[in-house]
Amino acid sequence: NARYLKDYLPSDFSINTIDLTFELDDNKTKVTSVMSISKNTSEANKIILNGEQLKLIAVYYNDTALNASEYQVDDDSLSFLIKDNECTVKIVTEIDPENNTSLEGLFKSGGAFCTQCEAEGFRRITYYLDRPDVMAKFTTKVIADKNLYPYLLSNGNKIDSGDLNNNRHFVTWEDPFLKPCYLFALVAGDFDLLQDSYKTTSGRDVRLEIFVDKGNKTKAHHAMASLKHSMRWDEDTFGLEYDLDIYMIVAVDFFNMGAMENKGLNVFNSKFVLADKETATDTDYFNVEAVIAHEYFHNWTGNRVTCRDWFQLSLKEGLTVFRDQQFSADMHSAAVTRIKNVRVMRAQQFSEDAGPMSHPIRPEKVVEMNNFYTLTVYEKGSEVIRMLHTLLGKDKFRQGLDLYFQRFDGQAVTCDDFVTAMADAAKIDLILFKRWYSQSGTPIVKVEESFNTNSGEYQINLSQLTLPTKDQATKYALHIPIAIELINNEGTQSHLLELKSDNQQWRFSGFHEKPTLGFLANFSAPVKVDFEQSNSDLAIIMTSAKDKFLRWDAGQKLFSNTISQIITDTNYQIPAELIDILATQLCDNSDPALIAEQFTLPNFHELVEQFKPINPIKLVDALDKLKLFIAKGLEKQLLSIYQALADKPYLNNAQSIGDRALKNMSLSYLVLLPEHHDLVKRQYLTSDNMTDALAALQSSATQTVESFDAMMASFEQRWENTTLVMDKWFSLQAAYKGSNIFERLKNLTEHSLFSLKNPNRARSLIGAFAQNNSRYFHCETGRGYQFLADQICSLNAINPQVASRLITALIQYQDFDEYRQNLMKSQLERIAILPNLSKDLKEKLDAAL
Ligand code: ARG
Ligand code: ZN
Repeated sequence: NARYLKDYLPSDFSINTIDLTFELDDNKTKVTSVMSISKNTSEANKIILNGEQLKLIAVYYNDTALNASEYQVDDDSLSFLIKDNECTVKIVTEIDPENNTSLEGLFKSGGAFCTQCEAEGFRRITYYLDRPDVMAKFTTKVIADKNLYPYLLSNGNKIDSGDLNNNRHFVTWEDPFLKPCYLFALVAGDFDLLQDSYKTTSGRDVRLEIFVDKGNKTKAHHAMASLKHSMRWDEDTFGLEYDLDIYMIVAVDFFNMGAMENKGLNVFNSKFVLADKETATDTDYFNVEAVIAHEYFHNWTGNRVTCRDWFQLSLKEGLTVFRDQQFSADMHSAAVTRIKNVRVMRAQQFSEDAGPMSHPIRPEKVVEMNNFYTLTVYEKGSEVIRMLHTLLGKDKFRQGLDLYFQRFDGQAVTCDDFVTAMADAAKIDLILFKRWYSQSGTPIVKVEESFNTNSGEYQINLSQLTLPTKDQATKYALHIPIAIELINNEGTQSHLLELKSDNQQWRFSGFHEKPTLGFLANFSAPVKVDFEQSNSDLAIIMTSAKDKFLRWDAGQKLFSNTISQIITDTNYQIPAELIDILATQLCDNSDPALIAEQFTLPNFHELVEQFKPINPIKLVDALDKLKLFIAKGLEKQLLSIYQALADKPYLNNAQSIGDRALKNMSLSYLVLLPEHHDLVKRQYLTSDNMTDALAALQSSATQTVESFDAMMASFEQRWENTTLVMDKWFSLQAAYKGSNIFERLKNLTEHSLFSLKNPNRARSLIGAFAQNNSRYFHCETGRGYQFLADQICSLNAINPQVASRLITALIQYQDFDEYRQNLMKSQLERIAILPNLSKDLKEKLDAAL
């Protein structure tokens, strides 16, 4: 049941128009689809439509009902003969939205009906050619009870509406743009509506509408402002304007992913829409803005130009992530935004790329498409686009994108088409570069340097190596852009090196003494670096590099070198000079958010990636030890920073956000010293915003801070009716560092507000435990793994997509010591024998076991 990129064939049939009618009902929704179909080749005769979990009521061919002998229907298809070059097919199906807990196709979220069709959910609504290169004009009539569902929404423009019998009403929508069915959407419900408008540069007036649960309207203003900023930014940066008269966003509580870019009608996980200072953190505000931008940007990179097939997913996702990252960098501190991107790559994408599900950004083999909405396709995909941006420069990149739209607007195309447009516009050769699309794994770039004191010549030797991965035994050299700085007293030089073969040298002359090499400025390529640098060189980079990313990265390297020493040598004394180097960073008060990043240690997952295979408990101990050492060494300075910032009023601007980040970073160290425990309690009690309240609780989620449970009880009482805040409460509980964590987890799964049916809630407890509670997830008894496996077994039947995401923490067992590998594998084996194991889990288990 695997599909391969190499087997792609164009469709035998086109569907030119589809008229849909939905008679909404919780358990028996009737869907009538009328399609005009034409043959693409004269040989075509049998059409095979995709369909799953549908009850077929009737099929008509040119108005004549087919009898059962004239069509074949099975679990995933409906097929029949098409005799004419052009014909009309009408299909009536019935579906059960209320019992659709997979949240794919048409389902109920709270009291509302809504859809999720990407990647292959439309086939759970009606029989169709469910593939992105089949593009049709959609007209949708929605019929439902008038009181329960006052708003009936779909893609495009509203062309008709009216009342019907039995207290029902209808609305008809027409989308003028051809689109694949994965961009179809329908929403019906009762909402609060926030309205606004936007005028594009060329003068189009666009109505902006955000639909949220009743009572949440004041929490939609940030999303609205973000939408308008995104629209402006895309016009200013890429000359791209919106193309309909209305843009709608609906926020729902039950959603598998972040959001969905359906044409003219985005559906969002409410977590990426709702924000106010009492309930959302600064990070939440940042993420809402980024996801709103991402979905908006898809209107061009995804909708106007879409993917030929799902193997090309990164065509739209890598490019759109790159666009949203650039937008965020322009709206905030560019350096801090970049640092956040890089942490995700190093902590998560690198291990995916080395694990059993390793795949290129353009996968070649897929069993369940939902398994390929990955960090590789999205984040590494974005890094690949960023490398093009670096190689071409901003202006040529813009010309390349212009050419791409000129060539492909309205079409379903490939990653290759994109890169070719870039190469043609910039008049450069990107043949070798294209290998990034077909090769999986993370290249390791090894750096050797030498200096000739007599000639003043400095030489760099680079070699690249990509280790074999599960999916590909043989690897080749890639085209890697490497930005460097040569730092010396006479002024720093910046260069861009293009590494294109296994080994290459570069020489730079005119130095009086050996310069200090700042390597991979701005993380110019998604690679690992093998380069030993002394602490004194790192200290020079930390204070003197021009690129802020390089400064931060040198600090991270210093931390990971120290942690490595702590792990390998039990008698290792952390040198006091570390404190002196760090202290210098605290003095620079120009960018408090950057200082906060500089003092944030590389996280557990980033370090696992550097030291694997590793005993995870040794790593957790080493991290704790280093953190305590820093807390003691800088206690006075951190306390004075904390006190200077503690009582500043809340504002929603960059300075205030940065101040909070710095303050809460300080608190996270100070809380390690028992004499400062009162600070967290005080901050929790006096805070008027979620950022500070949550930081206080996060800093105290350990059994050594006695006030934690009392604070959590008051938090629960205050927020029990606010879904998104209770997700935070469950996550805090899951991260609790105390030996009774497993009793606590058991009680939490039995909590009246816990449910596996809500993906956010499931992830807030189970995902947060596996991700953020490494000491207990990896505990020696194996109970952590068992807890996760138990939950995955339950989720398998409820929501395969969510189950399949959560299994990541177990399938990457190769990162850990043999004892733990065996514990993890035995849990995987237990999942593998589940009756009715979903396709999603099966694909991953087959790869991992
Ligand atoms: N295209 C959406 C986005 O990136 C993601 C939808 C993924 N859905 C899924 N079921 N895998 O914004
Ligand atoms: Zn996307």
